[in-house]
Amino acid sequence: MIWDDFEAKWLSETLDVLKSKFATVGLNTTTDLVALSGAHTFGRAQCSSVVDRLYIFNGAGNPDPTLDKTYLETLREACPEGGIETVLLNLDPTTPNAFDNNYYSNLQAEQGLLQSDQELFSTSGEDTIDIVDRFSSDETTFFESFAVSMIRMGNISPITGSEGEIRLSCREVNVECTSSNKWSSI
Ligand code: HEM
Repeated sequence: MIWDDFEAKWLSETLDVLKSKFATVGLNTTTDLVALSGAHTFGRAQCSSVVDRLYIFNGAGNPDPTLDKTYLETLREACPEGGIETVLLNLDPTTPNAFDNNYYSNLQAEQGLLQSDQELFSTSGEDTIDIVDRFSSDETTFFESFAVSMIRMGNISPITGSEGEIRLSCREVNVECTSSNKWSSI
């Protein structure tokens, strides 16, 4: 997870809202959005991030209709209603630890784990669908686009010198080393 709280707040946004948030930070709503989402070709998400899609999609008592039925059953077994929210699920169910383009073929098979993933392919009439198809059929194009978009994302308001820090742990700001905490900061 790279955008910490932002990602958590975005996970059930509609594609329109995701697009407007990308546009706000100067990223484009086509290639940047689809290529960067491809980072979900590995890593995990917690049940809490998907449970609504499995049981009460959009507040109704049904699952998300864009979820493949077999995949839905697998996810329901891992995340029963009222179960442990921190159980981890692979973001890419086919090659969970490889950086490849299977994320996109998963979307074509309605096996995107997060709502924000599946919407790239399942929102009818959207310009993101063709890009998913292209990245799914051509891994080299995905890799090249991903590199370009990562650089573009890295250039969003970078902080330099003493304005920022390189974190020792990506999930928290560095603890300043003092005589009282120097043995417990990592
Ligand atoms: C398009 C908007 C995005 C949304 C809505 C989103 C949402 C999420 C969510 C909800 C999780 C799981 C968090 C959890 O359950 O604890 C996650 C994990 C992850 N995200 Fe994103 N994300 C987005 C964009 C990105 C981007 C741009 C990247 C990197 C370029 C990225 C890389 C990752 C990785 C690697 C993980 C797995 C982390 C781990 O296994 O510890 N995401 N994302």
